[in-house]
Amino acid sequence: MTDVSTSPPRVLRRSRPRRAALPPGPRGPALVNTARMVEDPVGSLTGWHRRYGDVFTVPFLVFGVGVYVADPEAIRSLFTGDQSDLHAGEANEPLSPVLGKRSVLILDGPEHLRHRRLLLPPFQGSAVAAFRAVIRDVTAAELARWRPGEELVLRERMRTLTFEVIARAVFGVTVPARIDRLRDALTSLLALQPLFFLPQALRRDLGRLSPWGLFRRRLAAADALIYEEIARRRADPALDERADVLSLLLRARDEDGGALTDRELRDELMTMLLAGHETTATGLAFAFDLLGHHPEVLARLRDELAAGDGDRYLDAVVTETLRLRPVIDGAERTLTRPRVVGGHELPAGIRVYPAIAVVHLREDLYPDATAFRPERFLDGKADAYTWLPFGGGIRRCIGAALAQAEMAEVIRAVVLRADLEPVRADPEPVVLRGITLVPRHGTPVRVRRIAPAVPHSTA
Ligand code: HEM
Repeated sequence: MTDVSTSPPRVLRRSRPRRAALPPGPRGPALVNTARMVEDPVGSLTGWHRRYGDVFTVPFLVFGVGVYVADPEAIRSLFTGDQSDLHAGEANEPLSPVLGKRSVLILDGPEHLRHRRLLLPPFQGSAVAAFRAVIRDVTAAELARWRPGEELVLRERMRTLTFEVIARAVFGVTVPARIDRLRDALTSLLALQPLFFLPQALRRDLGRLSPWGLFRRRLAAADALIYEEIARRRADPALDERADVLSLLLRARDEDGGALTDRELRDELMTMLLAGHETTATGLAFAFDLLGHHPEVLARLRDELAAGDGDRYLDAVVTETLRLRPVIDGAERTLTRPRVVGGHELPAGIRVYPAIAVVHLREDLYPDATAFRPERFLDGKADAYTWLPFGGGIRRCIGAALAQAEMAEVIRAVVLRADLEPVRADPEPVVLRGITLVPRHGTPVRVRRIAPAVPHSTA
């Protein structure tokens, strides 16, 4: 029963200020919008963009009301300038049981910047160049397992490969048994991914067989291995000469001379392992799907690589793949204060999504936008606010250079050594799974031919 004595008088209720009107958008219920996004994310977003313009509002289940922004100028002003009223870590909070509260993905404000400054150097320039050798080794080992006539689901194979790369780049672990233990612990933890989004009330450890109990035990097992690697590395007399990310982080100091604690290191290592492998594997699966269905692009790439002169075209293939098939459809910023975005005044608390997938398909920026044409990127670098697969500003993906190097090296090795035939006649439909865009069937291919490894062929 309503307690009338505490209800505000009607007249008062009506005179409450109205929430600022949100930009237009689909009127259907959140359930319908969410279902459309899951099944056809790119078609839904571009359809809404055509109908409602550069700034549109969509209510979703779980994530609530979001405002998409598809205007590069408005995105530029979200990514640059004062960021104090924009949070990105807040929306990642559901991942905190796995990543920990001290992960760069979860933190906001000055603490986020402190972590980011410490994490960036191992992922820049020369450091990434050093990882190329690791990527080539891991790819060669993967290709050695492929047999003519075999059918492969490339996204699965690429996931194993990219996990191995990130584990070796981050931990510098080369002992196979230790990589295997880490992989097993993390894959069994990742198998419980749907639980990451359990509401707080259901996150209860009710014994070994309860879902949260199982999660807690698998998490503890993975943590034990990560802490073991941290302890080994701290005790390594050659720490100062090592180039892996963990060693660089152990040596890194912030402006006040402070170092990351073991807890902070654990959270960042877990973040890199999780953020760094599925995304790259999906990017690779999309690349092979597009190459498989565009024989003219594949032939040019193969010819140029075989002639030892293909790096520019190879990089353009990676750039064009990430344009046409971005793995993340939109970056995310939560407003902590009202802010004008693309000419609309938006209230505090609203989630704003720079609409990566929509910007990448704008005809005014990319003529014949739905065509796969690496040539577009042969003449120059992609622009920071119109090519956004890695987001931007102070939250731009830390692993962007590593991911692009990894995609390039894996594509190079596969194109030079293997003939893959797409199992499906048409390019893969793009669907939303979790928070990433993925090829619906995981890009199944048949191995028609696999050439023996040629030493130095990838130099
Ligand atoms: C093709 C592969 C990848 C894609 C498409 C991708 C995409 C993204 C995107 C869109 C963001 C959010 C950016 C923003 O909000 O502005 C992000 C953040 C991040 N990514 Fe990646 N990523 C990839 C690979 C990697 C790799 C290999 C690592 C390994 C270190 C990594 C680590 C991170 C981290 C730590 C953040 C959080 C940065 C912050 O909040 O300051 N990612 N990534």
